[in-house]
Amino acid sequence: MTDDLLSAPRPQPATGAARAQELHVQLHAHARRYYVLDEPSIPDAEYDRLFKELQALEAQYPELLTPDSPTQRVGGKALDAFASVRHKVPMLSIRTETDTEATGAQNFDNRVRKELGLSESDPPVEYVAELKFDGLAMSLRYENGVLVQAATRGDGETGEDVTQNIRTIKQIPLRLNAHPSPLPEAEGANSSYPHSPRERARVRASPIPAVLEVRGEVYMRRDDFEALNEHQRAKIAQGMKGEKTFVNPRNAAAGAVRQLDPNIAAQRPLSFFAYGLGDITPADVGGPAFETHFELLQTLKKWGFPVAAQTIRARAAPELVAYHHHIGQSRDGLPFDIDGVVYKVNSLALQRQLGFVTREPRWAVAHKYPAQEQLTTVLGIDVQVGRTGKLTPVAKLAPVFVGGVTVTNATLHNEDEARRKDVRVGDTVVVRRAGDVIPEVVSVLLDKRLPGVDVFTMPRICPVCGSSAVREEANGEVMADYRCTGGLFCGAQRKEAILHFAHRRAVEVDGLGDKLVEQLVDANIIRTLPDLYKLGVTSLANLDRMADKSAKNLLDAIEKSKQTTLARFVFGLGIRHVGEATAKELARHFGNLDAIMDATEEQLVGVSDVGPIVTKSVRTFFDQPHNREVVEQLRACGVTWAESQVGEPAAVVPKPLSGKTFVITGTLPTLSRDQAKDMLEAAGAKVAGSVSKKTDYLLAGTDAGSKLDKARELGVAVIDEAVLLTLTNLPSD
Ligand code: IVH
Repeated sequence: MTDDLLSAPRPQPATGAARAQELHVQLHAHARRYYVLDEPSIPDAEYDRLFKELQALEAQYPELLTPDSPTQRVGGKALDAFASVRHKVPMLSIRTETDTEATGAQNFDNRVRKELGLSESDPPVEYVAELKFDGLAMSLRYENGVLVQAATRGDGETGEDVTQNIRTIKQIPLRLNAHPSPLPEAEGANSSYPHSPRERARVRASPIPAVLEVRGEVYMRRDDFEALNEHQRAKIAQGMKGEKTFVNPRNAAAGAVRQLDPNIAAQRPLSFFAYGLGDITPADVGGPAFETHFELLQTLKKWGFPVAAQTIRARAAPELVAYHHHIGQSRDGLPFDIDGVVYKVNSLALQRQLGFVTREPRWAVAHKYPAQEQLTTVLGIDVQVGRTGKLTPVAKLAPVFVGGVTVTNATLHNEDEARRKDVRVGDTVVVRRAGDVIPEVVSVLLDKRLPGVDVFTMPRICPVCGSSAVREEANGEVMADYRCTGGLFCGAQRKEAILHFAHRRAVEVDGLGDKLVEQLVDANIIRTLPDLYKLGVTSLANLDRMADKSAKNLLDAIEKSKQTTLARFVFGLGIRHVGEATAKELARHFGNLDAIMDATEEQLVGVSDVGPIVTKSVRTFFDQPHNREVVEQLRACGVTWAESQVGEPAAVVPKPLSGKTFVITGTLPTLSRDQAKDMLEAAGAKVAGSVSKKTDYLLAGTDAGSKLDKARELGVAVIDEAVLLTLTNLPSD
């Protein structure tokens, strides 16, 4: 065998070149499907394989490596500084309207019509309405279809050459897409303005110009931003020097674009939307002849640029107003930040006619929304206690106008969140209020932190009542929330505690509902539960809609509630995780209240159906002197119960149909015979097969036969399904 046969067939440069070309086309197409169209057709691993194959080819034959190669998106050498780029066509800014919905668009339409010399009888001017992306403006220069330069806006005349970094953005084509699939119905082409065949033909036929500068916005999606910050936090936690989190997606995007090391830029997930043109080969020397802005956007899309799907054509002011309103409503649901919408005159001829004033075009205007984020300082961190005892840290802020309202408080949710964001008193923070959402502290500007400020810690006692606050556990996991354990005593939980105690299935105070409790607590008539038993006609007389008669009824109901059962009383205390059934078990097991209050954890775990969570909860509840005090006061007020008979479940927890014997016959309207039997047995009844003197009830449906006759003969009560449902739903004690 010769050496030639042994070695792997080394492709000749010619075959290598052909394969490299093939790989270019495939990788560009797959990247576009993945990043622009969001519909990948091959698995990531397959993409990686093709990518590596191309990298290997380029390493072997450096002459195959071209600037538009898909491998050129990653990395490169770090720069000392960015080179300056003079924009052939200046990058202008646009006039901003912050006026109300109606006037912003109307003012613009009026101005345009006036400038164009249109009278009221002239037809409406057609506009394109777009999103105003909150990122940074970029100019992308393509020569003969290949990306050769990317520049920031700078001062509008001269920007910075950030080509290396921009190449890492997968949504930006390195080479224009010259052979697109047939143009689908344009997204955003609202139905009232269908593409004219002429327009469609032009979009389809437009040749790739020798020079093309695409203007658009580089931005970071919100989910990418969150993931990046998460990653940054992990690096900071590992003690990596020089790492920081970013304030918002725009800030993160700007940082990435202006990153001198393109390897770092490559790790920052950026995206892009095209919205216009800079320099372009004129139509008379072979460039495309666009007539409208909308058509231009469709062509950019065809060439491979992402164009926002929310771009529409609109006629006259009312449609722009509607767009502004609609986008404003759906703004929070977008995957990226916008700070307004932009209206542009659609006809390029009219745009030329309108021209510019100073550095702003007369044919475009930005109509902003109120900012959703602002900077402010943290004046303090309060801990609020909710109706159920949940402790929530709340940042007290220097008043700031954000998202359309003045904000002075922002929730920090819980200890973990407060720690994660590391908000401290005196910090400068970014506050966000989006839509109707509760204002939130997004992040802290660490470089503005004053030295020596303390880390926030959750208090271990309830700031309202002084009882201990504990972090709950569920299923072996520590939960995020702290809760006050002074349920009965805590002022913050007063209303909830009273309502629960008075519940029909607890101690039952008939007629003591939401509204009344609200009034009694707000008027400071009831502070803690025992106050309920000190109410008199006079204290009730001043309440809203409280006639003498209803006051008397309420006092009677309160008096009646003094005679209760141990189970109802224990349930009524509102101990977390102690529901009605558990209360019954505790009552049955221990027989009296003192035994329950003093039970050790070992004793509690011995109760059937009581696990470690309930055990802990019962213990912490009775370990609060305040709670014990309330119990003692209730007893002193005359609340009593028959002590339970220890260990006799049937006697203590009687079932509604205990001791009764049923027989079932015929077809029931909704239940099967088995279902009816289950229900009866669950309610304590016995179900027999035949009617005898011992039968208490015959449950009869249609087509009942001899059993019904027998029952009638013996004088046994006959009931139907409806009666069965009533009987089985009777309260159990
Ligand atoms: S058009 C001559 N369209 O807003 C008109 N700009 O002051 C040039 N922006 O920083 C701009 N979304 O980067 C235009 N759909 C959009 C835009 C948009 C965001 C930014 C742009 C510039 C500022 C304009």
